[in-house]
Amino acid sequence: MTASTMYTTPFHTQDLTKLSFLITGGSGFIGSNLVEYLIKYNAGKVRVLDNLLTSSIDNIKPFIGLPNFEFIEGDIRDTEMCRKACENIDLVSHQAALGSVPRSVKDPQATHSINATGFLNMLVASRDAGVKRFVYASSSSVYGDHPVLPKKEEETGNPLFVTLCGE
Ligand SMILES: NC(=O)c1ccc[n+]([C@@H]2O[C@H](COP(=O)([O-])OP(=O)(O)OC[C@H]3O[C@@H](n4cnc5c(N)ncnc54)[C@H](O)[C@@H]3O)[C@@H](O)[C@H]2O)c1
Repeated sequence: MTASTMYTTPFHTQDLTKLSFLITGGSGFIGSNLVEYLIKYNAGKVRVLDNLLTSSIDNIKPFIGLPNFEFIEGDIRDTEMCRKACENIDLVSHQAALGSVPRSVKDPQATHSINATGFLNMLVASRDAGVKRFVYASSSSVYGDHPVLPKKEEETGNPLFVTLCGE
């Protein structure tokens, strides 16, 4: 399904009106499109947790003020913030992340703290809050330099950072 048909053809099968969703990174590219979809199909609650590190609030401005939308400006590195964001949530879509392999080589601690520790914080907070389902976005970067498309989990290449560090 392409991004454009996603809006005209619903791909969910359940009634969303009684479900609550947390979209971390919900102000980013993928997250804000998920928010738009969920709002369009009358999800019971759509909560965004985003620290606006790499995105603009403009992406979710149209939803601010809607009764079923809530924006929490906060950081997934903050465990208390993660706990608050997961309260009364049925489903989590975890999209908050710091992209770019070159950036992770330049500043590995920042990338690790968000993509690894922040991810773990969200898993623990979701478990403790009784979240029913947790879906997260990975990255094609995990396949390293393997050239074959489409990517398959069993076909991983060499880590990209080796090449980058050698430059
Ligand atoms: N866009 C793509 O084509 C693509 C392809 C494959 C995988 N992905 C993955 O999907 C996920 C989302 O990608 P995207 O393109 O929407 O990225 P994006 O950069 O547009 O969105 C990421 C969001 O996370 C937020 N964020 C970053 N650090 C945070 C923190 N510490 N606490 C709270 N929020 C934080 C940013 O402010 C931003 O809004 C990423 O994991 C990415 O690797 C994206």
